[in-house]
Amino acid sequence: MEQINVGIIGCGSITKFRHAPEYKANPYVNEIVFFDRNMERSKALAEEFGGRAVETVEELYNDPSIIAISDCSSNDTHHIFTTDALLSGKHVLCEKPLAVSIEYAEKMLDAQRKSGKKLMVDHNQRFTKAHQKAKQLIESKELGEVLTFKTSFGHQGPEHWSVNNSNATWFFKKERSHSGVAGDLGIHKIDLIHYLLDDEIVDVHAFHGALDKVDENGNPIEVCDNVVAALKTKKGRLGTASFSWTYYGSEDNSTKIYCQKGMMKIYHDPENQLIVETKDGEVIKYQLEAIQTNDNQTSTGVIDAFVDAIINDTDPIVTGQDAMSSLKVVEAILGK
Ligand SMILES: NC(=O)c1ccc[n+]([C@@H]2O[C@H](COP(=O)([O-])OP(=O)(O)OC[C@H]3O[C@@H](n4cnc5c(N)ncnc54)[C@H](O)[C@@H]3O)[C@@H](O)[C@H]2O)c1
Repeated sequence: MEQINVGIIGCGSITKFRHAPEYKANPYVNEIVFFDRNMERSKALAEEFGGRAVETVEELYNDPSIIAISDCSSNDTHHIFTTDALLSGKHVLCEKPLAVSIEYAEKMLDAQRKSGKKLMVDHNQRFTKAHQKAKQLIESKELGEVLTFKTSFGHQGPEHWSVNNSNATWFFKKERSHSGVAGDLGIHKIDLIHYLLDDEIVDVHAFHGALDKVDENGNPIEVCDNVVAALKTKKGRLGTASFSWTYYGSEDNSTKIYCQKGMMKIYHDPENQLIVETKDGEVIKYQLEAIQTNDNQTSTGVIDAFVDAIINDTDPIVTGQDAMSSLKVVEAILGK
């Protein structure tokens, strides 16, 4: 296969900052075709990144030159667009969270199996340099077995990120977001813990609430803006997690992994993205790469991995089944 054309559904922030620039930079991508129900947005991105805008999503599905599609629509429509795209013969990179219910997610996984096409989900935390290094250290067992973990992901809230830069954002609406900060930020760290520990969270005790955010009418939002959770994995590891849209200082994207012979601090120190402290007092500081934040958009590597999986016909790094496992933990956090 030489070069491919790709389609993008949804032309908001994640497309502008990650999917479009990363497809544009990928040598295997020939043309990007943009679709959004708001055509001003699709036309603007076609102009900014090259490519063209189409008026209907069917134009993407029916175009044989389009091999792959990114589903960057809001959470409530992933199960529709991703399923239809798979069944029309396209490989799909779906944004997280996979879906707004387990039932819808199962239908998406069925569509993937039926179509034989690739389904990858954008759990980009796996790809960062410090997380990759941490994974390698855990697998080497240099620090022994993992015992416990603490993970956190919080920032000032999606109303500062979404293309609709206001309290009226869909991120605050129950029927469109479904899971609030749990499915927005929490799911990233759940996927990360599953990946790093080669394990799965199977037991959850959690609190969630809408503590501070208000909608466009000044009412508390319909979804949670904060979560704190105690977690247990299949292999018996114990951990805690906090996910927040109300961290009104700097973003917290940090994880600590405690092992039998020492511990790892990941993204605690902006200069040293991974710090290993051993039981006998040794401290090893790794300067890798600053994590992507809403203000620091570097390449995630996700688009390249998706295109590589298509070109080389390999399984994607984050499968639909992986995303289903994380979604189940989010549902448990929300008491579903
Ligand atoms: N992987 C990550 O780190 C990450 C970061 C941010 C957002 N996301 C995910 O990406 C998705 C999009 O988020 P965003 O931040 O770009 O949101 P956004 O509000 O900035 O943009 C969403 C876009 O989708 C379009 N859209 C929504 N429903 C549509 C429909 N039915 N038909 C056509 N167009 C439609 C909207 O018009 C809008 O332009 C969400 O699922 C979100 O959770 C992932």
